[in-house]
Amino acid sequence: MMAESLSTELPSHLAIIMDGNGRWARRRCLPRGEGHKRGARSVRKIVTHCRELGVQHLTLYAFSSENWRRPDREVSQLMELLCEFLVEETSTLLDNGIELEAIGDTARLPSRVRELLTAVREQTRGLGGMRLNLALSYGGRDELVRAIRQLVHQAREGELRPEAVSEQLVAEHLDTRHLPDPELLIRTGGEHRLSNFLLWQSAYTELYVTDVAWPDFTTEQLEVALTWYRGRRRRFGRTDEQLEGLEDQGYLMGSGPYSVIP
Ligand code: FPP
Repeated sequence: MMAESLSTELPSHLAIIMDGNGRWARRRCLPRGEGHKRGARSVRKIVTHCRELGVQHLTLYAFSSENWRRPDREVSQLMELLCEFLVEETSTLLDNGIELEAIGDTARLPSRVRELLTAVREQTRGLGGMRLNLALSYGGRDELVRAIRQLVHQAREGELRPEAVSEQLVAEHLDTRHLPDPELLIRTGGEHRLSNFLLWQSAYTELYVTDVAWPDFTTEQLEVALTWYRGRRRRFGRTDEQLEGLEDQGYLMGSGPYSVIP
């Protein structure tokens, strides 16, 4: 039986790699920090637009586990922008019913960022309009390592048999355990790679890359990506003929491989 039925029109979970801030600034002979500032403006516009469209989960790659290697000054600027966003956008989140969450090794974040995150998460908990997940100090490999550590610990305590380890159990130990897999991942800035983002979760995700740098990514650009997504055919390892059979039976091809298939 079908556990869940989702529209093929709109991804229920949209993930975005917001790349190209530095190059955007360099092209204008501006410091990199200016690119990030303009990038934060794009974040605000895209978040509210996704909410208006009815996207249920939006995950933004805001700071990777590798970004800690950037110069201290740039790391501080990014943390400062994040704090500003959390302070200034709380009312927008509340007005629009947007719940804030974070994924990643957030314990590494400065205490001010952690405190603000906790406060905004508490204030927006249960609003249910859209869930905005900020990936902070996030790396897909790091997330898997943390999940494996938990499972090994359970096994050592005698609470987990090797045969009980399944894809579902692994997924339940990831930071994204409360989220469906993303149906669409957008990467701005033109690079064709995942850069350690949602490695497990994007196994069947449609990837859309645009050369547009993140500070120039507008709601119109988002619409272009969504139109492209609507034209995709998601097969989850099946043949076109099998899919046509499933569609004839009324199954929609919008959700993940675990939930759609009878
Ligand atoms: C990649 O551009 C972008 C980042 C490392 C940070 C993304 C941060 C923001 C968009 C602003 C703050 C976030 C929020 C949620 C308010 P890059 O610097 O790697 O660009 P480049 O590849 O052109 O150098």
